[in-house]
Amino acid sequence: MLKEKMQNALNEQINKELYSSYLYLSMSAYAQSMGLQGVANWMKIQAQEELTHANKFFDYIHERNGKVILKAIDAVETEFGNVIDLFKRVLEHEEYVTSLINNLVDISIEVNDHATRSLLMWFVDEQVEEEASVQEIIDNLKMVEGKGQGLFMIDKELSTRVFVDSTQKGK
Ligand code: FEO
Repeated sequence: MLKEKMQNALNEQINKELYSSYLYLSMSAYAQSMGLQGVANWMKIQAQEELTHANKFFDYIHERNGKVILKAIDAVETEFGNVIDLFKRVLEHEEYVTSLINNLVDISIEVNDHATRSLLMWFVDEQVEEEASVQEIIDNLKMVEGKGQGLFMIDKELSTRVFVDSTQKGK
């Protein structure tokens, strides 16, 4: 059985993952409005990934015989500046999510919940990958800054991203 403090924190995280999905969907719409189809595709897949993160917590709470409580999702921003600003905002958000995951790990240690701690290790690793992949895109965008051809190529590359349910790996 999940301790109440842990359960509440995990439910809070479901909300944050759903918020993340909503944020990336908003970014996808923004990229569409800028005519960047590849970026829009990348963001939409990012939004899908966040749903799988929410689901992983959702299923886990049930697996531990806990109670899932879904709360209202906050409204998201709709303007993100230029394409570098946009990806910087992604990185900032992922760093925030990393801090939330670290906080959950702290709670799992505090309440002696080794099973939850084990689940959270998957998210710790996932956050490292997420931050690294966004940083790489920012670096590439900076390299071609001001050059339309370069942005065109990066957008083309981002259009090749396909959805993979990473919650299924290492299960
Ligand atoms: Fe669910 Fe992008 O972290």
